[in-house]
Amino acid sequence: MKILAPSILSANFADLLSDVKQVEAAGAQWLHLDVMDGHFVPNISFGPAIIKALRPHSGLFFDVHLMIEQPDKYIDAFVKAGADMIVIHQEATRHLHRVIQAIKAHDVQAGISLNPATPINTLVDIVDQLDMVLLMSVNPGFGGQKFIEHTYQKIKDLRTLIDQRALTTKIEVDGGVNLANAASLINCGADVLVAGSAVFGADDIAERIAQFQSRM
Ligand code: DX5
Ligand code: ZN
Repeated sequence: MKILAPSILSANFADLLSDVKQVEAAGAQWLHLDVMDGHFVPNISFGPAIIKALRPHSGLFFDVHLMIEQPDKYIDAFVKAGADMIVIHQEATRHLHRVIQAIKAHDVQAGISLNPATPINTLVDIVDQLDMVLLMSVNPGFGGQKFIEHTYQKIKDLRTLIDQRALTTKIEVDGGVNLANAASLINCGADVLVAGSAVFGADDIAERIAQFQSRM
């Protein structure tokens, strides 16, 4: 079963809980939470306090995407806030192995994200330790951007690497995902699709989630 992870970056922040409840009621399994610090990416979103506030109201799997410098300093805070998966960026982390072990020591799943220009082969010595690899299919920082086509090849290459080693590491694709490319992304080997504007920009969120799921 493939997974849809609506990104609340495109939700209504003035009525966030109601949007989260809508996607949960519509059958989404995961919730994608984009944390941005204004340094690693040119935008600021929200931090652990928002995640902590949502946590008691939702049974969704909280997939926390840290687009921040020095993520090692904040792992404890995001664990305490209720993250089920913490994804750090390869480009923001000097000691990837150490930080991944620190996340897993809390019994939280751990992933690494790659920017569009960062090659898959930078992960060959760490992928065995990962629950997930997140491939950015736009430059991180904003919702509503255009999908970068080169991502298809990266998904295939990563699928080959994961299958060759018989790993269970999931592949997540984030940025510019929509109804038109969802099936192709799954066919290339993606397990989890993040969708922000394509879900929360829809007139009928529940109908849009059903449309995604019929393509996955
Ligand atoms: C972008 C974020 C994405 C964003 C995707 O930096 O990581 O999760 O919410 O938004 P859409 O689906 O609109 O491209
Ligand atoms: Zn994201």
